[in-house]
Amino acid sequence: MHGIIHLELHNFVKSQYGEAALDQLLERAQPSTRIVTPLSSYPDADIVAMVTAAAELTGKSPTALLEAFGEFLVPTYVALYGSLLKPTWRTLDVIEHTEQTIHRVVRRRQPGALPPRLRTVRVGPKMVILTYDSPRKLCAVARGISRGLAARFGEALTINDIECMHRGDPACIISFEVP
Ligand code: HEM
Repeated sequence: MHGIIHLELHNFVKSQYGEAALDQLLERAQPSTRIVTPLSSYPDADIVAMVTAAAELTGKSPTALLEAFGEFLVPTYVALYGSLLKPTWRTLDVIEHTEQTIHRVVRRRQPGALPPRLRTVRVGPKMVILTYDSPRKLCAVARGISRGLAARFGEALTINDIECMHRGDPACIISFEVP
């Protein structure tokens, strides 16, 4: 996965739990490398090891940690890729258009990065339905990113897991709704 994700996971741990906690986590998780940069891609297994170790150390569920991490990613995402977003877009518009704009560009620019192919249906001005079926099964990150976007735009967002790969469904189908 893209080095941004790995680097931001380190930054997330540091910002929430401090520098010593990151050292402790790296010691426990034993990822393939301790130093990560946004210019490279690194094994998905490193993320899994880090999140599993973080859950053991904090007592929080991997899902809760991944959601919080997704939320944490948004300011960095916007700083790096914000120029691809139309200024008029709000939370639902970004979710609706991420595949054709951002993820497509990420796939082209970063060797080794394979962002999920998000399928969306805009069922009305106030609701979008996302189908997510990445084998990484990181729907919690998708929910977290969406919450981070809503916080950024000052919108209330209701998220409903209609189907979920973690419950044995073939894909995660998630609805996002604003008032
Ligand atoms: C500013 C907006 C966004 C940017 C810049 C962005 C960028 C990225 C990047 C760089 C990755 C790593 C891909 C890899 O290395 O293979 C990624 C993964 C991911 N993105 Fe996005 N993304 C954005 C918005 C979204 C949105 C709105 C969603 C869903 C609601 C989403 C869902 C995910 C998920 C779940 C992953 C984890 C990898 C996987 O599931 O296979 N992203 N994104």
